[in-house]
Amino acid sequence: MTLWGGRFEEGPAELLWRFTVDHSDRRLLADDVRGSQAHTLMLAEVGILSFEESAELLRGLDRVSVEAESGEFVWSDDDEDVHSAVERRLYELVGEVAGKLHTGRSRNDQVCLDLRLYLRRSLDARVGQIEDLVRVLLGKAEDVGDTVVASYTHVQQAQAVPLAHHLLAYAWMLLRDRDRFVAARDRIDVSPLGAGASAGSNLPLDPAAVAATLDFAGVFGNSMDAVASRDSVAEYVFCCAQTMVTLSRLSEEMILWASEEYGWATFGDAFTTGSSAMPQKKNPDIAELARGKTATVIGDLTALLTLQKGLPLTYNRDLQEDKRAVFHADDTLALALAALGGMLDSGRFHPPEPSGMVTALDLAEILVSRGVPFREAHEAVGGLVAGLAAAGRTLAEATAEELGAAHERLLPEDVEALTPAASVAARVTPGGGSMESVRVQLEELRKRLA
Ligand code: ARG
Repeated sequence: MTLWGGRFEEGPAELLWRFTVDHSDRRLLADDVRGSQAHTLMLAEVGILSFEESAELLRGLDRVSVEAESGEFVWSDDDEDVHSAVERRLYELVGEVAGKLHTGRSRNDQVCLDLRLYLRRSLDARVGQIEDLVRVLLGKAEDVGDTVVASYTHVQQAQAVPLAHHLLAYAWMLLRDRDRFVAARDRIDVSPLGAGASAGSNLPLDPAAVAATLDFAGVFGNSMDAVASRDSVAEYVFCCAQTMVTLSRLSEEMILWASEEYGWATFGDAFTTGSSAMPQKKNPDIAELARGKTATVIGDLTALLTLQKGLPLTYNRDLQEDKRAVFHADDTLALALAALGGMLDSGRFHPPEPSGMVTALDLAEILVSRGVPFREAHEAVGGLVAGLAAAGRTLAEATAEELGAAHERLLPEDVEALTPAASVAARVTPGGGSMESVRVQLEELRKRLA
Protein backbone atom coordinates (compact mmCIF):
# COMPACT_ATOMS: atom_id res chain seq x y z
CA MET A 1 0.00 0.00 0.00
CA THR A 2 1.22 3.49 -0.75
CA LEU A 3 0.13 6.40 1.38
CA TRP A 4 0.05 8.77 -1.58
CA GLY A 5 -2.18 7.38 -4.36
CA GLY A 6 -4.53 10.36 -4.62
CA ARG A 7 -2.87 12.39 -7.35
CA PHE A 8 -1.64 9.42 -9.38
CA GLU A 9 -3.52 7.90 -12.24
CA GLU A 10 -1.19 4.95 -12.66
CA GLY A 11 0.18 2.68 -9.99
CA PRO A 12 3.92 2.49 -9.36
CA ALA A 13 6.08 0.69 -11.93
CA GLU A 14 7.66 -2.51 -10.73
CA LEU A 15 11.07 -0.94 -11.27
CA LEU A 16 10.21 2.11 -9.22
CA TRP A 17 9.15 -0.17 -6.43
CA ARG A 18 12.27 -2.29 -6.60
CA PHE A 19 14.50 0.74 -6.62
CA THR A 20 12.82 2.85 -3.95
CA VAL A 21 11.59 0.35 -1.42
CA ASP A 22 14.01 -0.67 1.30
CA HIS A 23 12.78 -3.18 3.82
CA SER A 24 15.66 -2.59 6.19
CA ASP A 25 13.34 -0.27 8.11
CA ARG A 26 11.22 -3.24 9.21
CA ARG A 27 13.23 -3.51 12.38
CA LEU A 28 11.75 -0.16 13.36
CA LEU A 29 8.30 -1.75 13.66
CA ALA A 30 8.03 -1.66 17.45
CA ASP A 31 9.38 1.88 17.59
CA ASP A 32 7.02 3.00 14.86
CA VAL A 33 4.07 1.67 16.82
CA ARG A 34 5.28 3.28 20.02
CA GLY A 35 5.62 6.60 18.25
CA SER A 36 2.10 6.24 16.84
CA GLN A 37 0.69 5.49 20.27
CA ALA A 38 2.27 8.65 21.67
CA HIS A 39 1.07 10.63 18.68
CA THR A 40 -2.48 9.34 19.12
CA LEU A 41 -2.50 10.26 22.81
CA MET A 42 -1.34 13.77 21.97
CA LEU A 43 -3.95 14.17 19.21
CA ALA A 44 -6.64 13.24 21.74
CA GLU A 45 -5.24 15.53 24.43
CA VAL A 46 -5.34 18.57 22.17
CA GLY A 47 -8.83 17.66 20.95
CA ILE A 48 -7.99 16.74 17.36
CA LEU A 49 -9.25 13.21 17.96
CA SER A 50 -12.34 12.38 19.97
CA PHE A 51 -11.98 10.09 22.96
CA GLU A 52 -13.68 7.28 21.01
CA GLU A 53 -11.44 7.70 17.98
CA SER A 54 -8.27 7.65 20.01
CA ALA A 55 -9.49 4.63 21.98
CA GLU A 56 -10.10 2.76 18.73
CA LEU A 57 -6.72 3.70 17.34
CA LEU A 58 -4.97 2.73 20.56
CA ARG A 59 -6.78 -0.58 20.63
CA GLY A 60 -5.53 -1.31 17.11
CA LEU A 61 -2.03 -0.09 17.85
CA ASP A 62 -1.86 -2.26 20.96
CA ARG A 63 -2.71 -5.25 18.81
CA VAL A 64 -0.02 -4.29 16.27
CA SER A 65 2.40 -3.90 19.13
CA VAL A 66 1.62 -7.43 20.35
CA GLU A 67 2.09 -8.74 16.82
CA ALA A 68 5.38 -6.87 16.52
CA GLU A 69 6.61 -8.27 19.80
CA SER A 70 5.59 -11.86 19.08
CA GLY A 71 6.86 -11.81 15.52
CA GLU A 72 3.37 -12.54 14.21
CA PHE A 73 3.16 -9.28 12.31
CA VAL A 74 2.61 -10.14 8.65
CA TRP A 75 4.42 -7.96 6.14
CA SER A 76 3.10 -7.39 2.67
CA ASP A 77 5.28 -6.88 -0.38
CA ASP A 78 2.98 -3.99 -1.15
CA ASP A 79 3.99 -2.10 2.01
CA GLU A 80 6.21 0.74 0.87
CA ASP A 81 7.86 1.04 4.24
CA VAL A 82 7.31 0.27 7.90
CA HIS A 83 5.07 3.29 8.37
CA SER A 84 2.79 2.20 5.53
CA ALA A 85 2.72 -1.33 6.89
CA VAL A 86 1.53 -0.20 10.30
CA GLU A 87 -1.17 1.99 8.83
CA ARG A 88 -2.30 -0.80 6.50
CA ARG A 89 -2.54 -3.21 9.42
CA LEU A 90 -4.37 -0.64 11.47
CA TYR A 91 -7.01 -0.34 8.73
CA GLU A 92 -7.42 -4.10 8.85
CA LEU A 93 -7.88 -3.98 12.62
CA VAL A 94 -9.98 -0.86 13.25
CA GLY A 95 -11.28 0.22 9.85
CA GLU A 96 -11.73 3.78 8.59
CA VAL A 97 -10.66 5.53 11.78
CA ALA A 98 -7.12 4.35 10.96
CA GLY A 99 -7.13 7.17 8.41
CA LYS A 100 -6.91 9.66 11.28
CA LEU A 101 -3.62 8.36 12.69
CA HIS A 102 -1.42 10.32 10.29
CA THR A 103 -3.05 13.64 11.23
CA GLY A 104 -0.43 16.33 11.81
CA ARG A 105 2.37 13.99 10.95
CA SER A 106 4.57 13.10 7.99
CA ARG A 107 6.78 10.12 7.39
CA ASN A 108 9.58 12.66 7.40
CA ASP A 109 9.30 13.36 11.11
CA GLN A 110 8.03 9.85 11.81
CA VAL A 111 11.09 8.08 10.42
CA CYS A 112 13.38 10.40 12.38
CA LEU A 113 11.44 9.60 15.52
CA ASP A 114 11.61 5.85 14.94
CA LEU A 115 15.32 5.93 14.33
CA ARG A 116 15.97 8.04 17.41
CA LEU A 117 13.97 5.63 19.55
CA TYR A 118 15.89 2.72 18.08
CA LEU A 119 19.31 4.32 18.49
CA ARG A 120 18.61 5.40 22.04
CA ARG A 121 18.01 1.78 22.93
CA SER A 122 20.83 0.25 20.92
CA LEU A 123 23.18 2.85 22.38
CA ASP A 124 22.46 1.51 25.86
CA ALA A 125 23.09 -2.03 24.64
CA ARG A 126 26.41 -1.12 23.06
CA VAL A 127 27.51 0.72 26.20
CA GLY A 128 26.76 -2.42 28.20
CA GLN A 129 28.70 -4.60 25.76
CA ILE A 130 31.73 -2.33 25.77
CA GLU A 131 31.70 -2.47 29.55
CA ASP A 132 31.54 -6.26 29.40
CA LEU A 133 34.64 -6.32 27.22
CA VAL A 134 36.41 -3.97 29.61
CA ARG A 135 35.57 -6.40 32.40
CA VAL A 136 37.17 -9.22 30.43
CA LEU A 137 40.31 -7.10 30.02
CA LEU A 138 40.41 -6.29 33.74
CA GLY A 139 40.02 -9.98 34.56
CA LYS A 140 42.89 -10.90 32.25
CA ALA A 141 45.03 -8.09 33.64
CA GLU A 142 44.53 -9.58 37.09
CA ASP A 143 45.18 -13.14 35.88
CA VAL A 144 48.55 -12.35 34.34
CA GLY A 145 49.83 -10.91 37.63
CA ASP A 146 53.29 -9.42 37.36
CA THR A 147 54.22 -11.04 34.04
CA VAL A 148 56.61 -8.70 32.24
CA VAL A 149 56.67 -8.09 28.49
CA ALA A 150 58.33 -5.59 26.21
CA SER A 151 56.41 -2.55 25.15
CA TYR A 152 56.94 -1.86 21.47
CA THR A 153 57.50 1.23 19.37
CA HIS A 154 57.95 0.77 15.63
CA VAL A 155 57.33 -2.94 16.38
CA GLN A 156 60.76 -2.97 18.04
CA GLN A 157 61.11 -3.88 21.70
CA ALA A 158 61.13 -0.67 23.70
CA GLN A 159 60.82 -0.88 27.50
CA ALA A 160 59.83 -3.51 30.03
CA VAL A 161 56.20 -3.26 31.20
CA PRO A 162 53.74 -5.47 33.02
CA LEU A 163 51.59 -7.37 30.51
CA ALA A 164 48.66 -6.11 32.59
CA HIS A 165 49.65 -2.54 31.72
CA HIS A 166 49.44 -3.38 28.02
CA LEU A 167 46.02 -5.02 28.44
CA LEU A 168 44.70 -2.12 30.48
CA ALA A 169 45.65 0.35 27.74
CA TYR A 170 42.73 -1.19 25.81
CA ALA A 171 40.45 -0.83 28.81
CA TRP A 172 41.11 2.92 28.83
CA MET A 173 40.55 3.17 25.09
CA LEU A 174 37.31 1.24 25.29
CA LEU A 175 36.00 3.30 28.18
CA ARG A 176 36.51 6.42 26.09
CA ASP A 177 34.63 4.68 23.28
CA ARG A 178 31.86 4.01 25.76
CA ASP A 179 31.88 7.62 26.96
CA ARG A 180 31.53 8.82 23.38
CA PHE A 181 28.36 6.74 23.00
CA VAL A 182 27.06 8.13 26.27
CA ALA A 183 27.74 11.70 25.12
CA ALA A 184 26.07 11.05 21.76
CA ARG A 185 22.87 10.26 23.63
CA ASP A 186 22.33 13.98 24.29
CA ARG A 187 22.02 14.63 20.56
CA ILE A 188 19.92 11.54 19.85
CA ASP A 189 17.54 12.01 22.73
CA VAL A 190 15.52 14.81 21.08
CA SER A 191 12.03 14.23 19.70
CA PRO A 192 11.44 15.36 16.10
CA LEU A 193 7.71 14.53 16.07
CA GLY A 194 5.56 17.55 15.26
CA ALA A 195 8.00 18.83 12.65
CA GLY A 196 5.71 17.18 10.11
CA ALA A 197 6.78 17.26 6.50
CA SER A 198 9.02 20.29 7.00
CA ALA A 199 7.26 23.20 8.68
CA GLY A 200 5.09 21.75 11.41
CA SER A 201 1.32 22.01 11.14
CA ASN A 202 -1.58 24.40 11.35
CA LEU A 203 -3.24 22.06 13.79
CA PRO A 204 -2.67 22.68 17.51
CA LEU A 205 -0.15 19.86 17.98
CA ASP A 206 1.82 19.53 21.20
CA PRO A 207 5.29 18.20 20.31
CA ALA A 208 6.46 18.52 23.91
CA ALA A 209 3.69 16.18 25.06
CA VAL A 210 4.79 13.51 22.58
CA ALA A 211 8.39 13.99 23.68
CA ALA A 212 7.35 13.57 27.33
CA THR A 213 5.30 10.43 26.61
CA LEU A 214 8.27 8.89 24.85
CA ASP A 215 10.63 10.00 27.59
CA PHE A 216 12.77 12.20 25.36
CA ALA A 217 15.07 14.66 27.09
CA GLY A 218 14.25 17.37 24.58
CA VAL A 219 12.13 18.41 21.63
CA PHE A 220 13.16 19.91 18.27
CA GLY A 221 13.69 23.66 18.06
CA ASN A 222 13.38 23.96 14.29
CA SER A 223 11.14 21.75 12.18
CA MET A 224 13.34 21.97 9.08
CA ASP A 225 16.40 20.94 11.04
CA ALA A 226 14.37 18.16 12.66
CA VAL A 227 13.46 16.38 9.43
CA ALA A 228 16.58 17.17 7.39
CA SER A 229 19.42 16.46 9.82
CA ARG A 230 21.19 13.16 10.26
CA ASP A 231 24.24 14.38 12.17
CA SER A 232 23.25 12.41 15.25
CA VAL A 233 22.98 9.26 13.13
CA ALA A 234 26.43 9.94 11.70
CA GLU A 235 27.71 10.59 15.20
CA TYR A 236 26.35 7.25 16.33
CA VAL A 237 28.11 5.57 13.43
CA PHE A 238 31.30 7.45 14.25
CA CYS A 239 31.05 6.00 17.76
CA CYS A 240 30.65 2.56 16.17
CA ALA A 241 33.53 3.14 13.77
CA GLN A 242 35.90 4.43 16.44
CA THR A 243 35.05 1.51 18.71
CA MET A 244 35.63 -0.88 15.80
CA VAL A 245 39.00 0.79 15.23
CA THR A 246 39.89 0.14 18.86
CA LEU A 247 38.77 -3.47 18.45
CA SER A 248 40.75 -3.70 15.25
CA ARG A 249 43.94 -2.63 17.00
CA LEU A 250 43.30 -5.10 19.78
CA SER A 251 42.58 -7.75 17.15
CA GLU A 252 45.80 -7.02 15.32
CA GLU A 253 47.69 -7.60 18.56
CA MET A 254 45.81 -10.78 19.37
CA ILE A 255 46.71 -12.05 15.91
CA LEU A 256 50.38 -11.22 16.47
CA TRP A 257 50.37 -12.61 20.00
CA ALA A 258 48.96 -15.92 18.78
CA SER A 259 51.72 -16.31 16.19
CA GLU A 260 54.66 -18.64 16.77
CA GLU A 261 56.97 -15.66 16.41
CA TYR A 262 55.43 -13.76 19.33
CA GLY A 263 54.19 -16.76 21.27
CA TRP A 264 52.41 -14.54 23.78
CA ALA A 265 48.97 -16.11 23.82
CA THR A 266 46.92 -19.18 23.05
CA PHE A 267 43.21 -18.74 22.41
CA GLY A 268 40.59 -21.37 23.12
CA ASP A 269 39.63 -24.00 20.54
CA ALA A 270 36.05 -22.76 20.58
CA PHE A 271 37.23 -19.30 19.53
CA THR A 272 39.76 -20.24 16.85
CA THR A 273 39.39 -21.97 13.50
CA GLY A 274 41.26 -24.65 11.61
CA SER A 275 42.59 -24.97 8.10
CA SER A 276 41.05 -27.27 5.51
CA ALA A 277 44.52 -28.03 4.22
CA MET A 278 47.06 -27.70 7.03
CA PRO A 279 46.16 -29.89 9.99
CA GLN A 280 48.41 -28.02 12.42
CA LYS A 281 46.71 -24.64 11.97
CA LYS A 282 44.78 -22.80 14.64
CA ASN A 283 43.76 -19.47 13.24
CA PRO A 284 42.56 -16.29 14.98
CA ASP A 285 39.71 -15.70 12.51
CA ILE A 286 37.52 -13.76 14.92
CA ALA A 287 40.21 -11.15 15.39
CA GLU A 288 40.94 -11.06 11.67
CA LEU A 289 37.28 -10.55 10.83
CA ALA A 290 36.90 -7.87 13.49
CA ARG A 291 39.84 -6.11 11.84
CA GLY A 292 38.34 -6.66 8.38
CA LYS A 293 34.81 -5.62 9.30
CA THR A 294 36.20 -2.38 10.69
CA ALA A 295 36.76 -1.35 7.09
CA THR A 296 33.08 -1.83 6.32
CA VAL A 297 31.98 0.22 9.34
CA ILE A 298 34.32 3.02 8.32
CA GLY A 299 32.52 2.70 4.97
CA ASP A 300 29.20 3.22 6.75
CA LEU A 301 30.49 6.40 8.33
CA THR A 302 31.76 7.64 4.99
CA ALA A 303 28.36 6.85 3.47
CA LEU A 304 26.52 8.82 6.15
CA LEU A 305 28.72 11.87 5.88
CA THR A 306 28.59 11.81 2.10
CA LEU A 307 24.84 11.30 2.20
CA GLN A 308 24.37 14.62 3.98
CA LYS A 309 26.90 16.79 2.27
CA GLY A 310 25.01 17.96 -0.80
CA LEU A 311 21.44 17.80 0.45
CA PRO A 312 19.31 20.94 0.39
CA LEU A 313 16.81 21.26 3.22
CA THR A 314 14.63 19.54 4.11
CA TYR A 315 13.83 15.85 3.64
CA ASN A 316 15.16 14.14 0.53
CA ARG A 317 14.69 10.47 -0.22
CA ASP A 318 18.45 10.02 -0.18
CA LEU A 319 18.10 10.01 3.59
CA GLN A 320 16.44 6.61 3.45
CA GLU A 321 19.94 5.19 2.96
CA ASP A 322 20.88 6.26 6.50
CA LYS A 323 19.23 3.19 7.98
CA ARG A 324 21.17 0.54 6.09
CA ALA A 325 24.41 2.24 7.12
CA VAL A 326 23.60 2.73 10.78
CA PHE A 327 22.07 -0.73 11.20
CA HIS A 328 25.03 -2.37 9.52
CA ALA A 329 27.50 -0.42 11.65
CA ASP A 330 25.62 -1.13 14.85
CA ASP A 331 25.05 -4.84 14.11
CA THR A 332 28.67 -5.32 13.15
CA LEU A 333 29.90 -3.66 16.31
CA ALA A 334 27.49 -5.66 18.46
CA LEU A 335 28.72 -8.95 17.10
CA ALA A 336 32.38 -7.95 17.09
CA LEU A 337 32.26 -6.90 20.74
CA ALA A 338 30.69 -10.19 21.75
CA ALA A 339 32.92 -12.44 19.63
CA LEU A 340 36.15 -10.69 20.49
CA GLY A 341 35.21 -10.69 24.17
CA GLY A 342 34.73 -14.46 24.00
CA MET A 343 38.01 -14.96 22.21
CA LEU A 344 39.96 -12.77 24.61
CA ASP A 345 38.38 -14.41 27.61
CA SER A 346 39.45 -17.82 26.28
CA GLY A 347 43.08 -16.65 26.04
CA ARG A 348 46.00 -17.89 28.10
CA PHE A 349 49.05 -15.65 28.21
CA HIS A 350 52.60 -17.01 28.23
CA PRO A 351 54.85 -14.34 26.73
CA PRO A 352 58.59 -14.97 26.50
CA GLU A 353 61.01 -12.77 28.44
CA PRO A 354 61.65 -9.48 26.70
CA SER A 355 65.08 -8.93 25.20
CA GLY A 356 67.81 -8.02 27.66
CA MET A 357 68.19 -4.73 25.80
CA VAL A 358 64.90 -3.22 27.00
CA THR A 359 66.64 -1.71 30.02
CA ALA A 360 68.85 0.66 28.01
CA LEU A 361 66.80 3.70 28.96
CA ASP A 362 66.81 2.55 32.59
CA LEU A 363 70.60 2.57 32.58
CA ALA A 364 70.71 6.03 31.03
CA GLU A 365 68.30 7.25 33.71
CA ILE A 366 70.56 5.83 36.44
CA LEU A 367 73.29 8.09 35.09
CA VAL A 368 70.90 11.03 34.94
CA SER A 369 70.01 10.44 38.60
CA ARG A 370 73.75 10.88 39.33
CA GLY A 371 73.86 14.25 37.63
CA VAL A 372 74.96 13.18 34.15
CA PRO A 373 73.24 15.12 31.33
CA PHE A 374 70.78 12.88 29.49
CA ARG A 375 72.51 13.30 26.13
CA GLU A 376 75.82 12.16 27.59
CA ALA A 377 74.13 9.20 29.30
CA HIS A 378 72.37 8.24 26.06
CA GLU A 379 75.68 8.29 24.21
CA ALA A 380 77.47 6.15 26.80
CA VAL A 381 74.72 3.53 26.99
CA GLY A 382 74.45 3.54 23.19
CA GLY A 383 78.14 2.67 22.95
CA LEU A 384 77.78 -0.09 25.51
CA VAL A 385 74.73 -1.51 23.69
CA ALA A 386 76.55 -1.47 20.35
CA GLY A 387 79.49 -3.42 21.77
CA LEU A 388 77.27 -5.99 23.44
CA ALA A 389 75.07 -6.41 20.35
CA ALA A 390 78.15 -6.98 18.19
CA ALA A 391 79.11 -9.81 20.53
CA GLY A 392 75.59 -11.27 20.43
CA ARG A 393 74.97 -10.32 24.06
CA THR A 394 72.47 -8.02 25.79
CA LEU A 395 72.53 -5.45 28.56
CA ALA A 396 71.10 -8.02 30.95
CA GLU A 397 74.39 -9.92 30.54
CA ALA A 398 76.70 -6.92 30.93
CA THR A 399 79.39 -7.21 33.61
CA ALA A 400 80.29 -4.65 36.28
CA GLU A 401 83.58 -3.97 34.44
CA GLU A 402 81.78 -3.29 31.18
CA LEU A 403 79.49 -0.83 32.93
CA GLY A 404 82.44 0.95 34.50
CA ALA A 405 84.14 1.18 31.12
CA ALA A 406 81.03 2.63 29.53
CA HIS A 407 80.79 5.51 32.01
CA GLU A 408 82.71 6.40 35.15
CA ARG A 409 79.51 7.13 37.09
CA LEU A 410 78.18 3.59 36.63
CA LEU A 411 78.60 1.32 39.66
CA PRO A 412 79.09 -2.46 39.87
CA GLU A 413 75.65 -2.93 41.51
CA ASP A 414 73.96 -1.34 38.50
CA VAL A 415 74.10 -4.74 36.76
CA GLU A 416 71.16 -5.68 38.98
CA ALA A 417 69.02 -2.95 37.44
CA LEU A 418 69.38 -4.42 33.97
CA THR A 419 66.78 -7.18 33.95
CA PRO A 420 63.26 -6.51 32.64
CA ALA A 421 61.78 -7.33 36.05
CA ALA A 422 64.11 -4.87 37.80
CA SER A 423 63.18 -2.25 35.22
CA VAL A 424 59.47 -2.60 35.97
CA ALA A 425 60.17 -2.61 39.72
CA ALA A 426 62.06 0.70 39.45
CA ARG A 427 59.41 2.47 37.34
CA VAL A 428 57.85 5.37 39.23
CA THR A 429 55.76 7.41 36.78
CA PRO A 430 52.09 7.53 37.84
CA GLY A 431 50.20 5.76 35.06
CA GLY A 432 53.47 4.24 33.85
CA GLY A 433 54.44 0.61 33.39
CA SER A 434 54.74 -0.54 36.99
CA MET A 435 52.74 -2.92 39.14
CA GLU A 436 51.78 -0.06 41.46
CA SER A 437 50.38 1.78 38.47
CA VAL A 438 48.49 -1.35 37.39
CA ARG A 439 46.95 -1.55 40.85
CA VAL A 440 45.87 2.10 40.73
CA GLN A 441 44.50 1.66 37.20
CA LEU A 442 42.49 -1.41 38.13
CA GLU A 443 40.92 0.52 40.97
CA GLU A 444 40.15 3.57 38.82
CA LEU A 445 38.80 1.50 35.92
CA ARG A 446 36.55 -0.45 38.28
CA LYS A 447 35.23 2.84 39.61
CA ARG A 448 34.49 4.05 36.08
CA LEU A 449 32.66 0.83 35.33
CA ALA A 450 30.48 1.02 38.43
N1 ARG B 1 11.37 5.30 4.03
C1 ARG B 1 11.58 6.71 4.18
C2 ARG B 1 12.96 6.97 4.80
O1 ARG B 1 13.46 6.11 5.38
C3 ARG B 1 10.54 7.27 5.07
C4 ARG B 1 10.26 8.71 4.80
C5 ARG B 1 9.64 8.83 3.49
N2 ARG B 1 9.20 10.15 3.26
C6 ARG B 1 8.85 10.52 2.03
N3 ARG B 1 8.45 11.73 1.91
N4 ARG B 1 8.90 9.71 1.01
O2 ARG B 1 13.50 8.03 4.72
